[in-house]
Amino acid sequence: MSWLVTGGAGYIGAHVINSLITADEEVVAVDDLSTGNATRVPPGVRLVAANLLDQGSVRRLFTEHHVTGVVHLAAKKRVDESLRQPSRYFRENVEALRVLLDECVAADVQSFVFSSSAAVYGEPDTTTVDEDVACRPTTPYGQTKLAGEWLVRGVGAATGMRTLALRYFNVAGSASAALADTYLANLVPLVLDALQRGQAPKIFGADYATPDGTCVRDYIHVADVADAHVAAARALERGDITSGQALNIGTGSGVSVREVVDLAIAITGRDVQPVVEPRRPGDSPAVVAAVERARQELHWTAVRSLSDMIVSAWQAVQHGMRVASPL
Ligand SMILES: NC(=O)c1ccc[n+]([C@@H]2O[C@H](COP(=O)([O-])OP(=O)(O)OC[C@H]3O[C@@H](n4cnc5c(N)ncnc54)[C@H](O)[C@@H]3O)[C@@H](O)[C@H]2O)c1
Repeated sequence: MSWLVTGGAGYIGAHVINSLITADEEVVAVDDLSTGNATRVPPGVRLVAANLLDQGSVRRLFTEHHVTGVVHLAAKKRVDESLRQPSRYFRENVEALRVLLDECVAADVQSFVFSSSAAVYGEPDTTTVDEDVACRPTTPYGQTKLAGEWLVRGVGAATGMRTLALRYFNVAGSASAALADTYLANLVPLVLDALQRGQAPKIFGADYATPDGTCVRDYIHVADVADAHVAAARALERGDITSGQALNIGTGSGVSVREVVDLAIAITGRDVQPVVEPRRPGDSPAVVAAVERARQELHWTAVRSLSDMIVSAWQAVQHGMRVASPL
């Protein structure tokens, strides 16, 4: 009996593997290494290098391993790229998911955890977003995540496979330098990259209707996100959770861009001041997860601080983790 982690060589997938192993679960990973790195997968965990669109490889994987549960993280996640290549995003994020689900059903997989995103909400009207807020994704990336949720829920309802979708908010930090996020688009890596170069971090918009005028978001440590997957996997295995749900994965606390930048400057000890640039289109003033449902359903809550996130991300930068700019 083992868990298949798709996208296991990715930033979050590698942390999920670590948490599952720590929880004494057997794990096998699949990843096409398009944005992932095989060195993130711990020794002893088999990594199958394949794209999920390759149905034969996926079928072989289920034949060779007794997989009873799947954590599906493999996806393209670059919002800008999705605006330029929507068809590719639907193929990689939705069509590949359909292939995977067909093979899960054929292999009688019992449990399926789907990696969703706060991007499904789009630009919500409320600051604190619970799972009942209408989903109105504004980018192809967010649309593929919402379509994925529908597909997973539909297949689960039709076949009896137990499913959960986890909607992560702003993921940051790392458990070790080797597992760090190398994608230079999220706030924490962007700010630390600027500080490392001795440049001033940028704040996009300081005239929002928020306490300090900058956007407010819910930042969550990737190790907390990973632990939520173990809680979800266990709940699905026990069968004591309502299948088909989507749960927010955040801290429930809002932090402003200026607070992140100020803390990063303090932690790195760099003597620079941020520069304020004009607002970026599409940025909501404040988006914070309502986390009550995840707490109740998963008996899980985020425990790591913003400082933990920035310190660990800074250690990774100092260990020479290279960051990749958006395409
Ligand atoms: N990082 C975030 O802040 C964030 C927030 C919300 C949701 N998510 C979701 O979490 C998941 C993991 O994100 P991440 O940050 O670890 O990204 P990542 O790019 O580091 O990881 C994704 C992994 O999937 C692999 N992959 C992509 N398409 C594949 C395919 N068709 N077949 C096989 N492998 C494939 C990549 O090589 C990569 O290793 C994604 O589904 C993403 O949409 C991420």
